Amino acid sequence: MTTASRSDSRRGDPARPDNRLLRLRVNGTVHSVAAPPHAILLDVLRDVLGLVGTKRGCDMGTCGCCNVLIDGRAVMSCLVLAHDAQGKDIQTIEGLAFDGPDMHPLSKAWAECGGSQCGFCTPGFIVTCHELLANEAAPSRTRIAEAISGNVCRCTGYKKILDAVELAAARIREAEPASAPAKSGGSK
Ligand code: FES
Ligand code: FES
Repeated sequence: MTTASRSDSRRGDPARPDNRLLRLRVNGTVHSVAAPPHAILLDVLRDVLGLVGTKRGCDMGTCGCCNVLIDGRAVMSCLVLAHDAQGKDIQTIEGLAFDGPDMHPLSKAWAECGGSQCGFCTPGFIVTCHELLANEAAPSRTRIAEAISGNVCRCTGYKKILDAVELAAARIREAEPASAPAKSGGSK
């Protein structure tokens, strides 16, 4: 069992009496964790499980830096109680960045298109775009912009991010034409 390693009002001390055992399935592995009932999923991922790819930006649901997939949907982990995530399938950037031994097309396109500068926002964007491309094989640029509207980037100006998502979508379609999602974002 893993216990919280830091002590403050939310993460809790391993010895604190209000710790509760929870089981979280993260990137395909079930972890037993001790955390207080009010522990935030973001804190447990970063401070207990050491999955620091998920970033803390605003800590109040406005930047998308902390996005993870929960049952396939991009969710801000700073707004989720860790205990409420039990029984669900959680995927962090550590579980999404690669596709087998290769970089996932989104990660690769991000690097090639210059979608990262400081890189702090990148995990959250990529998580968001995983959900998008899992549901829409050919989203329009407008649709991509809409999908990432909850993610904030202070560096890139967004154009290179849009380029990266378009490139990744095209490569995924080329590689998996038979299994690509049926829906399309159209041409708006
Ligand atoms: S840190 Fe969660 S939305 Fe900003
Ligand atoms: S690359 Fe720096 S905030 Fe997006």
